[in-house]
Parts: sequence; structure tokens; C-alpha cells
Amino acid sequence: MRSVGILGTGSYLPEKVLTNADLEKMVDTNDEWIVSRTGIRERRIAAPEEASSDLSVKAAEKALKKAGIRAEELDMIIVTTVTPDMNFPATACLVQDRLGAKKAATFDLSAACTGFIYGISTGAQFIATGVYKYVLVIGVECLSRIVDWTDRNTCVLFGDGAGAAVLGPVEEGYGFLSFELGGDGSGGNLLNLPAGGSRLPASEKTIRERLHYVHMSGREVFKFAVRVMGNATEEALAKAGLSKEDIDFLVPHQANIRIIDSAVKRLGLTEDKVVVNLDRYGNMSSASIPVALDEAVERGLIKKGDTMVLCGFGGGLTWGATVLKWALD
Ligand SMILES: CC(C)(COP(=O)(O)OP(=O)(O)OC[C@H]1O[C@@H](n2cnc3c(N)ncnc32)[C@H](O)[C@@H]1OP(=O)(O)O)[C@@H](O)C(=O)NCCC(=O)NCCS
Repeated sequence: MRSVGILGTGSYLPEKVLTNADLEKMVDTNDEWIVSRTGIRERRIAAPEEASSDLSVKAAEKALKKAGIRAEELDMIIVTTVTPDMNFPATACLVQDRLGAKKAATFDLSAACTGFIYGISTGAQFIATGVYKYVLVIGVECLSRIVDWTDRNTCVLFGDGAGAAVLGPVEEGYGFLSFELGGDGSGGNLLNLPAGGSRLPASEKTIRERLHYVHMSGREVFKFAVRVMGNATEEALAKAGLSKEDIDFLVPHQANIRIIDSAVKRLGLTEDKVVVNLDRYGNMSSASIPVALDEAVERGLIKKGDTMVLCGFGGGLTWGATVLKWALD
């Protein structure tokens, strides 16, 4: 098996900032509640003319540039999202066209907030086996389009953004050391968007009942998240033959600072080893991890040989973690 790693990262955040103070004017909430319960201070909102493919292309162009790879060299594009431009064609196809990645296979992958971890795990297999050389994975969301702006339980939590990574062969011993993926469909009803699919096609009734928005049982999801973040990280470390002490950086899914803090405590990490950006962007579902990773790279935090864990969880229910030895100078 060939060693596979990340050759370049990129991200794009829409310009419009929605602060907690702005939300106070929209629903019965306040900055103190949002910050103390979630850690979120503001989030980005896509412009009316922006859709997920637009955010994706901007993030992808940066990742390709940093990787030194031309779009025409890409063998595969995987877009992970719960907010595709439309049900079909896949957003990955729209992105392929805009990038001019003519030979790339294209598909969307649905694993909610764990999407990016599922996406890189999938893409990496094609490279490890020698089938393909370069795979572009994009985590993107325009969650503002599916959030119920009258529901204070959910609308304060989410934001829009895109993060991308180009995967390719790396020096032996570097790159992805393990993957740990999981799912539990029995919890599917805890976080979902009930209507618009084959179960409840769009109708006047589904619109009236607000079934085209995110529905969430916050407390249950919280408990699940705390449990699986620690478990998935420990499993991925064990598969890589490493222990908690070997972690240089943890890049967790950015849903709630209290969820991150509990995992950090369990893993015995210090704060400087954990990449956090949810105060500025909220929960961007599958875009959270690649945006946080790109920002950490841009800040020069990550050095060649650093051992990182990327860990996500979310709707499905799904979870996933990967251990990665950073291969870039
Ligand atoms: C949603 C979440 C922040 C709520 O925090 P919590 O501490 O569990 O809060 P509770 O659910 O106990 O709600 C406490 C009260 O605050 C209220 N509340 C909810 N949202 C509020 C808001 N934005 N502003 C003010 N009050 C709010 C609730 O209505 C509830 O009031 P009640 O007791 O009168 O019914 C938390 O459960 C969470 O983060 N869950 C995980 C969500 C998540 O990560 N989802 C994505 C997974 S990828």
C-alpha cells in the first residue's frame, strides 16, 4: 500500500458575519446564553447568489494551488455536504465542471458532520491501492439555507463555509496512519431534515409544518457526541499503534466548545494542542474540520512529522477519526 497524505488545504468563508447580537433581534436568545452553552460568538452566512458549489470552487482552487496540482490532474472529486446545490446532479459534478477537472470521477458523499472524515477515508483508499493518484475532497455547507430562523434551539448553532484538501502519495511513513469510521442509524431521528426526500416529498403540508428545516434533539446529540469523540479518537490511535501522549494536534468537529472540552479532558490534552474556530464560524457541519485544518496550516502551527487526529461526529448518527502524520515542510 502506498502512503497517502494531504498535499494542500484551502478554505473559503462567506463575507457576511452574523453575530450573537444580530440573533438577539431575530429570536428570543442572548449572547451570554449562546457563548456559555456553545462557545459560538458569530458565524458566516452565504450571500443570496452563493450556493455550495460556489463556496467549494473557491476553497478547492486554494487547495490545488497550495498542493501544486492542476485541476486536470485530479482523478476524483468527492464533495461531502448535506446542502448540495440541488438533489442531483451531485455538487461534485458542478465543481468538476467549474474547475475544469476533466478526467475526475465525481460524487457527493452524505455523512453529515462526519462527511469530511468519511470523504478523506474514501479518497485515500483509491490512492493507497494505486488506482488513482490525486483526489480532491471538499467539505462544504450552506446550512443557513436549511436552518429554521424562528427556532432558537438550532438557528444559533450553524454557519456556512467550505474547506478542501488535495490527497496524494507522500513519503513512506507519513500521511494517514489509521481510519476509524462508525455509524448508528437507530439515532437517525435525533438530527435530520424530515421532508424533501422520497419519504415526505415537498408539499404544501410539509412546508406549513416546517419540515424542510433541520430538526435536532440537542441534549441526546450532545451526549452521543461526547461519548464518540473520545472513543473514536482512542480507537484510531490504537489502530495506528499510538497513544494519547503522541498527539501533537487534535482537529475536532466544531459543534460545541463543551463537547470539545470534554474530549480534551478525557484525552489529557493541553489547550494549545486543540484547534478551535467555532467561536468565529459556529458549526459548519462537514466544512468545520477542513476549515480548522486549513487555518492551522496557514498559521504555521503544523510542522512536518506532527501527529494529528481529525475527529468528527454528527447526523446519521455517524462518527469518524483519522490519525495523520503531517508530510509537508
Ligand atoms: C443545543 C445545545 C447547545 C443546548 O444546550 P443545553 O445546555 O443542552 O440546553 P438545554 O437543551 O438543556 O436547554 C436549556 C434551555 O435553554 C433554552 N434554549 C435553547 N436554545 C436557546 C437559545 N438559543 N437562547 C436561549 N435559550 C435557549 C431551551 O429552550 C431550554 O429551555 P427550557 O428548559 O425552558 O425548555 C446543546 O444541547 C448542544 O450543543 N447539543 C449538541 C448539538 C450539536 O452538536 N449538534 C450538531 C451535531 S454535529
